[in-house]
Amino acid sequence: MGFGGKDKGFGGGKGKVKGKDSKGKGKGKDGKGKGKGKDGKGKGKGKGASQVVIEPHRHEGVFVSKGKDDSLVTRNLVPGESVYGEKRLVAESADKEDKIEYRVWNPFRSKLGAAIVGGIGQMPIKPGSKVLYLGGASGTTVSHVSDMVGPEGVVYAVEFSHRPGRDLTNMAKRRPNIVPIVEDARQPQRYRMLVGMVDVIFADVAQPDQARIVTLNASYFLRNNGFVLISIKASCVDSTAAPEAVFASEVDKLRKDGCKPKEQLTLEPYHRDHALVLAVYRGSKKTK
Ligand SMILES: C[S@@+](CC[C@H](N)C(=O)[O-])C[C@H]1O[C@@H](n2cnc3c(N)ncnc32)[C@H](O)[C@@H]1O
Repeated sequence: MGFGGKDKGFGGGKGKVKGKDSKGKGKGKDGKGKGKGKDGKGKGKGKGASQVVIEPHRHEGVFVSKGKDDSLVTRNLVPGESVYGEKRLVAESADKEDKIEYRVWNPFRSKLGAAIVGGIGQMPIKPGSKVLYLGGASGTTVSHVSDMVGPEGVVYAVEFSHRPGRDLTNMAKRRPNIVPIVEDARQPQRYRMLVGMVDVIFADVAQPDQARIVTLNASYFLRNNGFVLISIKASCVDSTAAPEAVFASEVDKLRKDGCKPKEQLTLEPYHRDHALVLAVYRGSKKTK
C-alpha cells in the first residue's frame, strides 16, 4: 500500500538452526502475556521440549521460528532473561558448538513487530544501527530493537512518563546498547548531550503532533538520508476523520518537513486503524 512494499512478512532465508523450547520465564513487569492468548505468549514451560527450527528472516537481525505457527523472534542479547514474559527458544548454532537463544516477538504488542509480520519491504533497523526510539514505554519493542541492532548498535529510547520510564531504565541496566532517556520528545534540546547522530528514528508516541515531534528530532539527530519509521494511530491525530485521510495528511506533514515517503503499510489486523510509514530524511530547511 502507499509507496510500495508488497513482500510477505515471514521471508525465511538460509541457515536453519535447530533447538528446544526454553523455560519462557520472564520478569514480565507489566503482568501481561502469561499463559494466555493465541500468540503463544507466556507459554513454553519446557515440558517435553519440542524441536525448534530457526531461520533468518529476509530482514537482517530478525529470525523466524518455524513450526505449526511460524513466529517472529530476535536473538536474545541477554540469554537467560525475558523482558516482558515472552517465550524464549534455544537453538544450536550451525556448527553445533554454541547454543543461541531467541525471544518470541508478539506483533499484537509491537507496531514494529506487526510491520515486519505485515511485510514491510525495507527495514533500516539492522545489526549495528544507531536508533532513536521515541515513545519507548516500558521497553517491550525497545528490547527487540536492542536485539536487532546487537552489541555494535545503540538504541536511544525516549519516554516521558515516569512509571514506564523506570521499567525502561531498569531493563537498560541489563542491555548495554540501550540508553534510556526519561524526557519529553518535544524537547530534544534537553537530551542532546546524550544522543549521537543516528541512522533511524522510530516513533510511536501516539500524539497528535507526532509528525512535528519526529521531524524536530530528525533536525537534531538524524543523519541526511537516514530513515524515519513512524507508527500512526489515526484516532490520536483526528478521531473524526477517516483513518486513510489522517494517514495521508501525516505523510504530507513529513514531506513538508524534509522527509521523502518510501512506504506505507497498515498494521491491521494487529493494531486497528494504525499505519506505519517509512521515509528517508533529506534534511529540514526549517530552523529548530
Ligand atoms: C503506544 S505507547 C508506546 C509503546 C512502545 N513503542 C512499545 O511498542 O512497546 C506510547 C508511549 O509514548 C509515550 N509518549 C507520549 N508522548 C510522549 C512525548 N512527548 N515524549 C516521550 N514519550 C511520549 C507515552 O508515555 C507512551 O508510553
